[in-house]
Amino acid sequence: MEEYENLSQAKDKRYFLETYGCQMNEYDSSLVAELLANRGFSPTSDPGAAQLILVNTCSVRDKAEETALEKLRSIAHHRRRDPSVRLGVLGCMAENRKETILERIPEVDILLGPDHYDRLGELLDHPDQKLSSALGPDIAQTYEGLFAAPPTGVQAFVAVQRGCDMKCSYCIVPTTRGPERSRPLRDVLEEVRRLVDKGVVEVMLLGQTVNAYRADDGNFGELLAALDKIPGLRRVRFMSPHPRYFTDNLCKTMADLPSVSRHMHIPLQSGSSRVLRSMRRQYSKDQFLRIAERLREHMPDVALTTDIIAGYPGETREEHLETMSVLDSVRFDAAYMFAYSPRPGTLSADMVETITETEKQARLAEIIELQRKHTYQRLDESVDSVEDVLLEGASRRNGSEWIGKTTHFRKVVLDPGPEAKAGQIVSTRILARRGQILWGERA
Ligand code: 5AD
Ligand code: SF4
Repeated sequence: MEEYENLSQAKDKRYFLETYGCQMNEYDSSLVAELLANRGFSPTSDPGAAQLILVNTCSVRDKAEETALEKLRSIAHHRRRDPSVRLGVLGCMAENRKETILERIPEVDILLGPDHYDRLGELLDHPDQKLSSALGPDIAQTYEGLFAAPPTGVQAFVAVQRGCDMKCSYCIVPTTRGPERSRPLRDVLEEVRRLVDKGVVEVMLLGQTVNAYRADDGNFGELLAALDKIPGLRRVRFMSPHPRYFTDNLCKTMADLPSVSRHMHIPLQSGSSRVLRSMRRQYSKDQFLRIAERLREHMPDVALTTDIIAGYPGETREEHLETMSVLDSVRFDAAYMFAYSPRPGTLSADMVETITETEKQARLAEIIELQRKHTYQRLDESVDSVEDVLLEGASRRNGSEWIGKTTHFRKVVLDPGPEAKAGQIVSTRILARRGQILWGERA
């Protein structure tokens, strides 16, 4: 207790917070930042200067876990040196890898799962001599009434849904983040209005199956329609949707809303119907192709991106080639591509991996190479077009150059002139592609 009082009475309350993983984790870290700001803490990028050291962790693949453990190991000496320092692990690994964390980094004295960030203050006020933790799913938790710390730029993440009810065989998220629940629509609107008041012009709505959003006061289409009416909000994106919730109705609604970006993420995972069944993805290859077509019917210029897992247990060479063939027929604008990583506690963790690590990496490399070709083709096809580019900030390389994005999420470099401001939308003629970046000029 006494050692803790040093902390609570410290005049200079500093915290260090490092975040790994997805955008939801980034958002959660800004929730934590807001909670800590309300308690008089200020951030520092130097863990040595902090009395509270927090790492927000990710469990999605083995590499993410190892990176976070490595980070924790490298900063644990601050806790050993100064007993008033507290070292906390937040996020998916706190839920999923408690034993490993405590075994490998015994200095850890706080563990908080994704549904318990609002208990951080309480843990700080009433510290145990040993470990303080709050873990497990809380189906009622939507952090109602709590608003994340606003970002410094013109874009912001807004969580609209937490948890996941899907049972994809490879995925740890339903275990770490609990069942699906939607945040009340009025809460989301309130948060977005506050952000717009602070200069935000683009929001990214977050949820594990975000297009399945269904609060008591509205569904996803209704949420998008309500956001479209907020003056000053120029663009709305969302991550990550599930293909099966892109209904005809939703596609039609989105096509009619000017603020909804012409970029849709549709995670394919595999192009083989047999593998998809084993993954429990709830669509076949043909159904997926139909959904991609539907999005393009409603929004002809939509950019499509996806996620692919290479080397799922039991995947044959032919099944891998089926994935390549779906990539060829859809020609995605971009993809996140991963080698399968067994996660203890998931359904597929018990399945025998039939290929060697070398073969898995070779399949991943083939997928990456094919996708790079498609990404370049897509970008080349946009050369000569005129696009609305939302300016994000001046380029670090050259003061008069700015970086912005089209509604398709394509990065564009241009010189918009001396009056340029972040958040402004500039009509831009695309002149050329260099690597994955487009170059343009004011149209
Ligand atoms: N191994 C490899 N990739 C995975 N993903 C999720 N779980 C795993 C796993 N066990 C990928 C999926 C998902 C993205 C966020 O991460 O492609 O869509
Ligand atoms: Fe990582 Fe998934 Fe947790 Fe996000 S939800 S932090 S991607 S495990």
